[in-house]
Amino acid sequence: MSAFDKIIGYDMVKGELRQLADCLKNTEKYREMGVSIPQGLLLEGEPGVGKTLMTMCLVEESGRKAFICRKNQSDGDFVDQLRATFEQAVQSAPSIIVLDDMDKFADTDGRNRNAEEFVTVQSCIDEIKGKDVFVIATANDPRVVPSSMLRHGRFDVKLRINSPDMADTEQIIRHYLSTKPQVDADARIITEILSGRTSATLETVINEAGILACYEGSATITTDHIIKSALKTVFGVSIPSDMSMLKKIDLSRYHYDAQVIYHEAGHAAMCEILAPGMAALAATNGDNKCGGFLKQIARDKHRGLEQLETQIMISLAGKAAVDLRYGTPGIGGESDFDFAQQIIRDLMTDEAIFGFDLLDGRYSTSDRYDDTLQQIITHRLAEYYHRAKRLLAEHRDLLDGIAEALAKKRCLISDDFKRIKAECAA
Ligand SMILES: Nc1ncnc2c1ncn2[C@@H]1O[C@H](COP(=O)(O)OP(=O)(O)O)[C@@H](O)[C@H]1O
Ligand SMILES: [Mg+2]
Repeated sequence: MSAFDKIIGYDMVKGELRQLADCLKNTEKYREMGVSIPQGLLLEGEPGVGKTLMTMCLVEESGRKAFICRKNQSDGDFVDQLRATFEQAVQSAPSIIVLDDMDKFADTDGRNRNAEEFVTVQSCIDEIKGKDVFVIATANDPRVVPSSMLRHGRFDVKLRINSPDMADTEQIIRHYLSTKPQVDADARIITEILSGRTSATLETVINEAGILACYEGSATITTDHIIKSALKTVFGVSIPSDMSMLKKIDLSRYHYDAQVIYHEAGHAAMCEILAPGMAALAATNGDNKCGGFLKQIARDKHRGLEQLETQIMISLAGKAAVDLRYGTPGIGGESDFDFAQQIIRDLMTDEAIFGFDLLDGRYSTSDRYDDTLQQIITHRLAEYYHRAKRLLAEHRDLLDGIAEALAKKRCLISDDFKRIKAECAA
């Protein structure tokens, strides 16, 4: 059993950490090779991705004594604590110093890169050179830390920790489900809904689902409990446990609730038309206070032209669906248009997409360039909007089917979309 077994997934990161642990455990072996081992490791990534867990696993695996610094004192006291910790670590060498959430060390100075805390850490790191003390720092936002401090020689190894990918998300979900005694839940569905989220979020959602199950007097945690927990803790949507408490929504006439339903149904239907299987969850608030949303399965960062156009169509499909059904695009949903505009702008100006600048820099830096660009964007936006409306009209039964199901249940998952689509084809 290795300490790294506590980290689920993240095989590449674990590979790097294993190598570092070997360096720290068998320093002599590396010295005999005539190489110097790394001085420090920086783990960066958003809160909850597992930086502290990975750090503690590396410490455990290295077998070295560790000294941990987290900022929990006022500035002056903390600087003294930092110095004392480095001294103790040198006396106990070979050892490890952990600077957890280092970007928070100078919190009271805001973004001051010359803050005393950073100056202290930097000079302490320089003083311990050659003393067999390894420094591990974690940071949510390393931009706050002076770049001089992060250079080679101080932190030789830098690892960026992202939210888990789909395969790792499923593994982590299965792991957390396995820690509960009674579970009857579909890990695939939960993975789709929570793709792109941090490990900490996955852990919280599953725990909250357990609390909900207990409260409802259910002996088993089900997929439904986990979906409800995700809706509440991640998406800010609440659906009553007792479905008979849901207000009935009449879709036959135009009013706010009906608009919300058709708007989200539009996003979901377009997603099913252009990117089948990518719609993970559509939901609207039980009390209809703040609309709803569509969650797509998280994808890789890189997107080609076709995927970007699909995203434009999906975001415009909300208003287009309401327009198609009630003859007016309805109120709200401006953020959908902003999002679509931004993608169109990127399509026009990002050379990475076509390999060249579409406007050829002809009017570059002039007001005319900006005006021309805005005109083209507006024109393209109108084109996409009408294309979205036409496409929804061609798949009207799918749109209406999703809207009716959403009005009834307020929350649909990928299997529901697939079923409604199959019914339309039958
Ligand atoms: N890969 C993982 N496998 C299992 N649990 C994880 C993983 N990454 C993080 N966790 C759990 O998620 C929670 C948050 O992790 P933590 O290390 O505190 O994140 P960070 O330091 O990046 O904010 C902890 O309970 C941790 O055990
Ligand atoms: Mg942490």
